[in-house]
Amino acid sequence: MKTHTLLMPLDMHLHLRDGVMLENVAPLSAYSFSGALVMPNLVPPVTTKEDVIAYKERIMASVPNDYFEPYMTLFYQNYDKAFLESVVDDILAIKLYPAGITTNSEGGVKSFDIEAMRPTLNAMSELDIPLCIHGETDGFVMDREAEFMSIYELLAQNFPKLKIVMEHITTKAAVDMLDKYENLYATITLHHLLITLDDVVGGMMKPHLFCKPIAKRPEDREALLKVALEAHPKVMFGSDSAPHPQHKKESCGCAAGVFTAPIALQVLCEVFDEFNALENLQDFVSDNAQRIYGICPEFKEITLVDLPFTVPESYSGVIPMYAGETIGWSIESVE
Ligand code: NCD
Ligand code: ZN
Repeated sequence: MKTHTLLMPLDMHLHLRDGVMLENVAPLSAYSFSGALVMPNLVPPVTTKEDVIAYKERIMASVPNDYFEPYMTLFYQNYDKAFLESVVDDILAIKLYPAGITTNSEGGVKSFDIEAMRPTLNAMSELDIPLCIHGETDGFVMDREAEFMSIYELLAQNFPKLKIVMEHITTKAAVDMLDKYENLYATITLHHLLITLDDVVGGMMKPHLFCKPIAKRPEDREALLKVALEAHPKVMFGSDSAPHPQHKKESCGCAAGVFTAPIALQVLCEVFDEFNALENLQDFVSDNAQRIYGICPEFKEITLVDLPFTVPESYSGVIPMYAGETIGWSIESVE
């Protein structure tokens, strides 16, 4: 029997939603993670200081203990500097969505007009507020992320002091950008380390594996695996766990999002163990993020063991990845 202990695991891209869904899913992340970067794509999105504070309070009220830190984000708009100064202590980052590109992103950026964005991005640089980006164009669905690389380059060049996080990268093109610009970082999900588009639509269509950005080609998955397994210093784990009610997924208009929060650490252990890289998992799930974001999470120690775990069919009406299947690792203890 093999065990592996992780300290202060962090999920640097998480959807917790609101209301009953928040109450159902937040405890699952709070159980195994020390903290998470909480996405602002509520309806309506989180755009004011009051929104941030109130949402954080609702999250804290939904988790059973104090050992979980919701790192808050604002939904990107062309905010002015005075506003950003007033909110800098309440947020860890600002999340930018191109308008209409994914779930609840209608209020996002319509065109990447660098001059219109310059005052906001300069202020973010000065205040050291990272910019997290959902990097997809409105092009052909398989090409959207690769097409966005020129926008990442434009931003990285124009704002060299701005930390830019390429969220949930899915392509070799994005991996290659990491070493090209000092100020570009990335998060990688669990599911994009495991699946390609073949798993989503190659056989019977799997709605619970459908997400944005969609899973890509085997060579893309290989590139993601490589930098995750070596815990490249500029990559962080971000599950992009995105719960939707079962009827919104098993529907003729399937909502995008894969729900992985309750199984993420177990499956990460399984993957890293399979590739003899368990010693790098701590950096991937916590230390890189602590360094990149300059955060110091509350102590939490979670021990995992290579004993099989059968994933529940449903968590309060949300179907997780691997529902009903048996995964190779389970959680032994959390302290
Ligand atoms: C996310 C959601 O449901 O909020 N969906 C997804 O497919 N990943 C939004 C996002 O991160 O794109
Ligand atoms: Zn997301």
